[in-house]
Amino acid sequence: MALLEIREVTMKFGSLMANRDVTFDLEEGSIVGLIGPNGAGKTTLFNCISGYYTPSSGKIFFDGKDITSSSANEIAKLGAVRTFQVVHPLKEMSVLDNTLIGAFLRTSNVKEASEVAMECIKACHLEEMVHRKAGTLTIGQKKRLEMARALATQPRILMLDEAMAGLTSTEVRASVELIKSIRDQGITLLVVEHIMEAIMPIADKVVVLDGGEKIAEGPPKEIINDEMVITAYFGEKFAKRLKEAKLS
Ligand SMILES: Nc1ncnc2c1ncn2[C@@H]1O[C@H](COP(=O)(O)OP(=O)(O)OP(=O)(O)O)[C@@H](O)[C@H]1O
Ligand SMILES: [Mg+2]
Repeated sequence: MALLEIREVTMKFGSLMANRDVTFDLEEGSIVGLIGPNGAGKTTLFNCISGYYTPSSGKIFFDGKDITSSSANEIAKLGAVRTFQVVHPLKEMSVLDNTLIGAFLRTSNVKEASEVAMECIKACHLEEMVHRKAGTLTIGQKKRLEMARALATQPRILMLDEAMAGLTSTEVRASVELIKSIRDQGITLLVVEHIMEAIMPIADKVVVLDGGEKIAEGPPKEIINDEMVITAYFGEKFAKRLKEAKLS
C-alpha cells in the first residue's frame, strides 16, 4: 500500500475545474515530482492533500486512512506537511521561534522543541541566522526557513511547493542536496517544481498536470521521452528544457 493515495480528486471553483479526476500514489521513501505549466492545478492539489481545501469529489488516503475531509491540523499531526509557494514567515519573530512553531506540533516541552528546531535549522543551513528576525532574510533564506519549520513538525510526507523558485543556481544545488538528505532520512517527498534541471535528476517518479488533469506519470526518463505529450501540452520550448535536464 502506498503512503499517500490520491483517488479521482476533483476540485471545482465555481465552473472552473482546478483538479479533475487526479489519481496517483506516493510510495513511502520516494521523491515524486509534480510538474506542469502555470495554472495546471499543482498548488490546488497540495491544498487538497494538506487539508486547506476539501476536494469537491474523490478521496485521499494517508497510510490507509481516509483524510479527504480532515483538517490541516489533523493531517499535519498524522504527518503530511507542506510548504507554501509564497512564503510568509512571522517577520518580527526569529528564525528559531518560527521553527519552534513547527516543533510544537509534536511536543509542548520547550527544551525538546528547541532541540528539534535547532536540528532542522542546521539541516537547512540557517544556523548563522538563528536569532535573526525572519523579515530580514533573503528570499532563499526564507524558503529554507519554510523548509526548516515544516521539517520541525517531523513529517512522514513533506510537500514542497516551488521551494527553489527565485534561488541562485548555487542555492538550487544546495536545495537539491537537502531534498536528497531528507529522503535519506526516510521522509517521502512530493515536490512541485518548475526547475526541471533540479527535479528530474532526483525524482523517482514524475506526475504531469495540465488544465487540472494528470496527463502523464512515470519515471523521469520516460516523461522526458514522452515528447508527443510534452510538446502537445507545453510547446517546443518546455519540451527542449525537459530533454536538457540532466539525468543522473
Ligand atoms: N481559491 C481559488 N479560487 C478560484 N480559483 C482558484 C483558486 N485557487 C486556484 N484557482 C485557479 O485554479 C487553477 C489552478 O491554480 P493553481 O494555483 O493550483 O495552479 P498551479 O499549477 O499551482 O500554478 P503555478 O505554477 O502558477 O503556481 C488556476 O486557474 C487558478 O486561477
Ligand atoms: Mg502553484
